Amino acid sequence: MAEVTIRGLEKRYGAYQALRDIDLSIRDGELAVLVGPSGCGKSTLLRTIAGLEDISGGTIAIGGEVVNNVRPRDRDVAMVFQDYALYPHMSVSRNIGFGLRARKLPKHIIKAKVLSAAATLGIEPLLDRYPRQLSGGQRQRVAIGRAIVRDPQIFLFDEPLSNLDAQLRDEMRSEIKRLHQELGVTMIYVTHDQIEAMTLADRIVVLKDGQIEQQGSPLDLYERPQTRFVAGFIGSPQMNFVPVELAEDGSELRLGDRSVLAADFRRLASPAPRRLTLGFRPSHVAPARSEDARKGHVRRVVRIDLVQPTGARSFVTFQLGNSPVTAEVGAHEAGQVGEDMAVDIDLSRAVLIDDATGRVL
Ligand SMILES: Nc1ncnc2c1ncn2[C@@H]1O[C@H](COP(=O)(O)OP(=O)(O)OP(=O)(O)O)[C@@H](O)[C@H]1O
Ligand SMILES: [Mg+2]
Repeated sequence: MAEVTIRGLEKRYGAYQALRDIDLSIRDGELAVLVGPSGCGKSTLLRTIAGLEDISGGTIAIGGEVVNNVRPRDRDVAMVFQDYALYPHMSVSRNIGFGLRARKLPKHIIKAKVLSAAATLGIEPLLDRYPRQLSGGQRQRVAIGRAIVRDPQIFLFDEPLSNLDAQLRDEMRSEIKRLHQELGVTMIYVTHDQIEAMTLADRIVVLKDGQIEQQGSPLDLYERPQTRFVAGFIGSPQMNFVPVELAEDGSELRLGDRSVLAADFRRLASPAPRRLTLGFRPSHVAPARSEDARKGHVRRVVRIDLVQPTGARSFVTFQLGNSPVTAEVGAHEAGQVGEDMAVDIDLSRAVLIDDATGRVL
């Protein structure tokens, strides 16, 4: 069993605190994705699990055993790095088998393992080539192959796809997910790309400033963000944020231009903070279809500022109470720049954020 249990983890570089009070339990066989902006501590956390960084406090346990003082190569984890770190003077097959030769396994076993990993990754025809003769995606497969042959308890991936073009990234992403299903081993995957996180993860762990901001299933984070940061980080296009003011009795929300948006937020615990941000996803704004707005929706007539087609869907941007708002609509519902459009905003799925704390109410 290779569950990873982290308790009260701290990591300091001199006076700088890179990780703070990290509590994280990753189940055996789970694919956990660490996501967050540059510098938030993703690589550092991964490297502490691999044993490549000392920790300043707390414990890391793998399969129930605390590994704080266990050397990296005795932790039975394999790490795939962003830059692949292949040996340029070795063929693909020797690169993949490198760790096994270092462990002095018999030749025929190494050969069988290399062939089987190459088959899994579809790179058998490349085994005699050198890294310089490979495309980025092929190099990435070789780096993953080198991890697979070691049969580790845990795979650690640090932004393995960030050097690939968009199409190849999509392809490799499905491949990693398929690999996870096939091997059924624990994987911890670092990315700053929230789409990659959403599509791959059993569980997403959002990091910010060295701390865990929120963790949960992809849909959990998408539908129930607890902070403005998570609400804005997960989902593309980004959630719309509109500053609003709550009337004293909670009976209405006022936009920046003083117009009233919706009635009745009396359900909020009083005294509710007055300066708030209303957050709603572009997919929760739809062109008005029926005579009246549905319950929980508000209707507005807006002027279209920008239309961005993406194929089946288009993103339409307009102003709402002096804030730009984007709607995600069917490609043929988008209208033209400068035209008026009636939209219904589904407020039943909106979030209200307390500006003072950044927390969702
Ligand atoms: N060896 C080090 N000495 C001092 N500070 C460090 C060291 N390594 C990392 N840091 C700092 O710790 C913080 C977290 O770094 P880390 O590499 O974990 O970020 P990251 O989330 O992986 O970012 P990115 O998405 O850019 O890779 C950064 O502010 C970084 O400058
Ligand atoms: Mg990093």
